[in-house]
Amino acid sequence: ADPTLADDVLAGMRDIPDFPINGVVFKDFTPILLDPSLRGRIVSDTVARQRGRVDVVAGIEARGFILGAMIAHELGVGFVPVRKEGKLPSAVHKMSYALEYGTATLEIHQDAVSNGERVLVVDDVLATGGTLAATCDLIEQCGASVAAIELVLEIGMLGGRDKLGGYDVHSILTV
Ligand code: PRP
Repeated sequence: ADPTLADDVLAGMRDIPDFPINGVVFKDFTPILLDPSLRGRIVSDTVARQRGRVDVVAGIEARGFILGAMIAHELGVGFVPVRKEGKLPSAVHKMSYALEYGTATLEIHQDAVSNGERVLVVDDVLATGGTLAATCDLIEQCGASVAAIELVLEIGMLGGRDKLGGYDVHSILTV
């Protein structure tokens, strides 16, 4: 429904060499956040695919919070933060995972999603897939199910999609 969205998103991102470590080219999407029209088209495109199919949106710290909250608002459903270790105040499930650079642990409030709920997982980038695989595991630890995963950017050569077999994964743009 928005045939130029992928091209416009690619044009809207900045490549930052050697961030956060030497040899990594970081795809910076903060310019897109500054552009209400392009930002809105990302939200509208995602909402058009998912409306009526999900009960709640889970966003992954930190950029998944920004996108996920906008998408949850438009869908008229709740929003759940999936956070880095030690940030959530109530009882959590936790899951450790490998990143493109280093390792990390993610947490979700145990009572954030309930049994049988259909969860839409939102993040900005799929790289190695460790972050998303851990997030899906956390949602399932709560007894809920992952209805779909929505991303802005997928780095195809890192093979992250292979870690997400069985899930409905959609990326606006794959490079
Ligand atoms: C980035 C990105 C994804 C994750 C993808 O987050 O926003 O969440 O890495 O990587 P993966 O597919 O290899 O797991 P980052 O760890 O930089 O956290 P931040 O958003 O808090 O800066």
